[in-house]
Amino acid sequence: MKTLVILAHPNLDESIANKRIAEQLEKNIKNVEVRDIMNLYPDFKIDIETEQEALLQADTIIFQYPFWWYNMPAILKQWFDDVFCFNFAFGPEGDKLKGKNFVLSFTVGGPADSYSPLGYNHYRVEDFTRPMEQTAYLSQMNYLPPVYQNGMVYIPGVYNTKEAVEERADQQVQTLVDLITDLQSNDPEKVIKGFAKEWFEHFDVLADDGYFNNHIANGAKLQFVEGEFEGHEGFSQWYAEIKKNIKPNNEHRIESINVTANNGHFDVDLTVKMKAETTSGDLMQLNVKENWKVEITRDGRVKIHEYIVNSVN
Ligand SMILES: Cc1cc2nc3c(=O)[nH]c(=O)nc-3n(C[C@H](O)[C@H](O)[C@H](O)COP(=O)(O)O)c2cc1C
Repeated sequence: MKTLVILAHPNLDESIANKRIAEQLEKNIKNVEVRDIMNLYPDFKIDIETEQEALLQADTIIFQYPFWWYNMPAILKQWFDDVFCFNFAFGPEGDKLKGKNFVLSFTVGGPADSYSPLGYNHYRVEDFTRPMEQTAYLSQMNYLPPVYQNGMVYIPGVYNTKEAVEERADQQVQTLVDLITDLQSNDPEKVIKGFAKEWFEHFDVLADDGYFNNHIANGAKLQFVEGEFEGHEGFSQWYAEIKKNIKPNNEHRIESINVTANNGHFDVDLTVKMKAETTSGDLMQLNVKENWKVEITRDGRVKIHEYIVNSVN
């Protein structure tokens, strides 16, 4: 899983918080790219193609910036205006960011109690991030609650100590690292690979067909070596025959598995080695290629829509 950090600080040399956060993210997150857009585009002329390419490569995008006038610095606004364009982020063909995680991570100067109806900032911090939340929704992205710390300004002798700001910056990093770890464990590729292992373990023991049908979509297309079947009934029909002919405690070994995202679904290509003993006592060995089309449901379960098996013996 790849994480992209869009770092937007107009004056990073003088930054305490954002500089520290960006450096720590680079060190502590695996497979991360930090793009310092003020440094890349001091003239505000964004290279749209390069930025879009970086987005396409990423699963999670963290926008890291200081909270300025209840908003993002101008360079980041320019970046959004240019990069999140028609037929990329929205519009009839604008689904290129679909499903990617969208994380705002910013540092807020004012104290937490100022961001309340009776405080001098009147509104909650989350009230100020609404336009970004809707930007993520329109782009079909997965908007996560913003990550921020208050009291991030250090004014010597007046407000805060440098150490206190640094400590809060470190807390912010920890929250982000935990979030990424969490997202990684829900990584679709991992979920599907874990499922494939479990699926074949159930075949090994010739488990009840309820387990399998739970993971088969209504009307799914099933093409086994023995013929074509459809949906739950089709599976049960095929499986009843298999159970008649094969003893439990057989072996399915996944030799290779490849998962590719494809328009909201996943294509799963597997090669599987199978060893079994027939009920008449013969040993059976079969090498198969399997091509599945699956989805991950909202509650995180894998559902099979197409299951195609071809013998390669
Ligand atoms: C131009 C400007 C505008 C700011 N606006 C706000 C604001 O609206 N609300 C707030 O709480 N802090 C505000 N601050 C304080 C910044 O949020 C704070 O300086 C920053 O988060 C510290 O991060 P850094 O050390 O990376 O620069 C502002 C600071 C500047 C320079």
